[in-house]
Amino acid sequence: MLASADQMTVCFAHVAYQMQARFALRECGIASFEVRDRAGLDARIAEADVLVVSGLWHNGLAQLGGKLRFIQSIGAGTDQFDRAALSAKGIRLASAAGVNARAVSEHAMSLILALARRLPEARDNQAKKVWRGMIGDLTQREDELTDKTLVIVGLGRIGGRLAQLARAFDMRVIGVRRDPAGGRGAADEVHALSALPALLPAADFVALTCPLTPETTNLIDAAALARMQRSAYLVNCARGRVVDEPALVAALQAGAIAGAAIDVTWEEPLPAESPLWTAPGAFITPHTAGETRRYEDNVLDILMENLSRQWRGELALLNQVV
Ligand code: GLV
Repeated sequence: MLASADQMTVCFAHVAYQMQARFALRECGIASFEVRDRAGLDARIAEADVLVVSGLWHNGLAQLGGKLRFIQSIGAGTDQFDRAALSAKGIRLASAAGVNARAVSEHAMSLILALARRLPEARDNQAKKVWRGMIGDLTQREDELTDKTLVIVGLGRIGGRLAQLARAFDMRVIGVRRDPAGGRGAADEVHALSALPALLPAADFVALTCPLTPETTNLIDAAALARMQRSAYLVNCARGRVVDEPALVAALQAGAIAGAAIDVTWEEPLPAESPLWTAPGAFITPHTAGETRRYEDNVLDILMENLSRQWRGELALLNQVV
């Protein structure tokens, strides 16, 4: 049972977000503090009844957090949490699914447009003061999206909105989801994950917007990449581990696909020595797909709702994971 508002303490743990400042504006009379790094979190976790965290989490914290009862994830993804360990400790967990659905879907659409319009090359040329002339080689020329096929892997809130955006550009949208009975939304078709290999050869773009689960780990491996067209692009706004990264680098180096826009990598930050930085056709954004100026308040809305539910003794949480 969660302590009452005047008896509990919330810890906000994030490297950059202004969670506590935005929380203070709500004047809800709940004690809180903020930590900015792992050492700070380890040192003060024992003071917290509620922890609001994403990337600073590590599973050892479940043992250190003496009175910790509830974790509100700042991220939509919760793959870093050991659910069984939390449950054994009586610690509940809710995700922030939905808070960045607009941002990530807009980022994925931006990446698709950037690849089709060859914006990364234009920016590279600008840095070299090169005004590229018109080109006859159709494989190198800018293109339009009408009638191009987009396969979206993961048709949740993010993938579902990406489908809507892509349809506005007259793309043909094929959704792939774990449970196709969940509906196709704006997509033209929806299939089970197992249908992906058969769908890949038709894709002009493959966008990953799925959670990282045992089923999606290494989903885009060498075999999957080999099924894609040489003219096709991969867009990853999910998790790095959904893609076999060395296989992607090899595919880009061999020209087996035309390019890849990658927001997430196996190791983040991407190490300077990673060959992905310089792989031909790679366009990298630093896990910024979900960033939005509304982020803090979007998470706090979910946090407050989940605190209220627990004070009312309700069992079901918003975005409940554990
Ligand atoms: C970002 O990657 C998130 O999980 O929200």
